[in-house]
Amino acid sequence: MSPDPGRRHRRSLDGLRILVSAGPTREHLDPVRFISNPSSGRMGYAIARACRERGAKVVLVTGPVELAKPKGMRVLPVVTAREMLRACAKEFVRADAFVACAAVSDFRPVRQSRQKKKKDGRGDWLELRANPDILLSLSRRKQGRVLVGFAAETQDLIANAESKLRRKRLDLIVANSVAQGRGFGADDNRATLLEPGGHAAALPLMSKRKLAGKIATRLAALIRASRHQRIGRVE
Ligand code: PMT
Repeated sequence: MSPDPGRRHRRSLDGLRILVSAGPTREHLDPVRFISNPSSGRMGYAIARACRERGAKVVLVTGPVELAKPKGMRVLPVVTAREMLRACAKEFVRADAFVACAAVSDFRPVRQSRQKKKKDGRGDWLELRANPDILLSLSRRKQGRVLVGFAAETQDLIANAESKLRRKRLDLIVANSVAQGRGFGADDNRATLLEPGGHAAALPLMSKRKLAGKIATRLAALIRASRHQRIGRVE
């Protein structure tokens, strides 16, 4: 009988420290309004759980979501992109890998009103400033760490994902379409896994839990390969 695949992968991340970001960030205009996106956190939480199931020590940095707090890991709640950057940068130092699944708001309002903004008939007061790119900024301190990013695209999925793979020095990017309501919020997802050197695996539609398992399995192999490479360089 062939071995149970669940058993085979069970301890493949044993003792490794995996940092996962999940959910959206929120950028408040005033106490009751914010810029955000429909990320539910499901994909990121599923990845955190899949890594935990494989024996990893997981730190989950999460934007505001309505999911139950997963057991067996450290969960660090944040609201804004800058808070997420601070939390991730602190944990990154000790991490063996970073899986950036969060849907980070790329912009924030230049000014944040302490009181609810009044309707005065004008809509031209909203000025935006670019937020830091968390994954890009941490990729500059990559050293031996394995970096996994996501690409959420409404067009040119593979070309845009390949460009992010290169620019952010990633070892793996999970390209998923978010056109026509796909990707965000649902229980399932269709993704293509891309790696440097042109390796691509187009996966069928599957539950986010199953996809998370595939990402965690690939992550374990990438960490092993990165360690062998480093040992080879030292010898
Ligand atoms: O949360 P769910 O409802 O389950 O939905 C899942 C998902 C659609 C949010 C998820 O599968 C996904 O695609 N996450 C990444 C969303 C995203 O912001 O993609 P991007 O192509 O804009 O960003 C590329 C990469 O850079 C991502 O790894 C992102 O986390 C990271 N990034 C982006 C912007 C920024 N300012 N900082 C970042 O770190």
